[in-house]
Amino acid sequence: MLDPYRCLICGETYLGQEIPDRCPFCGASFRHFVPAAEWIDYGKVEMSEQSYKDIKAAIDLELNNSAFYKCAAGKAETQITQSIFKRLSKQEMEHAELLCKMIGEDEPPLPDVTCSDSDPENMLDAHKRESRAIKFYQEAANRAPEPRVAEVFRALSEIESEHLKISSVYR
Ligand SMILES: [Fe+2]
Ligand SMILES: [Fe+2]
Repeated sequence: MLDPYRCLICGETYLGQEIPDRCPFCGASFRHFVPAAEWIDYGKVEMSEQSYKDIKAAIDLELNNSAFYKCAAGKAETQITQSIFKRLSKQEMEHAELLCKMIGEDEPPLPDVTCSDSDPENMLDAHKRESRAIKFYQEAANRAPEPRVAEVFRALSEIESEHLKISSVYR
């Protein structure tokens, strides 16, 4: 019988027989998957002013990176780099959506972001962007008093570490 799994980070459902290694939607580790019946809807989260400020900064960061990866996908030199940039853009967009849900606000539009015509240069840019994101999420997770906010920041830090590895391999 098909037993769908649901991601506790982004809330998306995976329709498959076995838990995938990472959430195809947000990139979270398989450890965040639960059978759909056990899924918890955190919805809008009550939070401190500092956490709200951090979530707003995180939304900007995610939208900026999503727009950058979209640009890089549009200019990609190979089918492989195009597919990677496209997936990364979608995962960052998923992160922005999740963060907006946590504060109960509408998602702002994608900003205008430029990128290079060269894959290696865009991979280098990606590397810098992901390094900044990891550092920010680690700091934000450490100062978040709310368990759910800390959990999400920690998961995002771990996901961006995976993105960093990807940008290192193809650089
Ligand atoms: Fe997910
Ligand atoms: Fe992200």
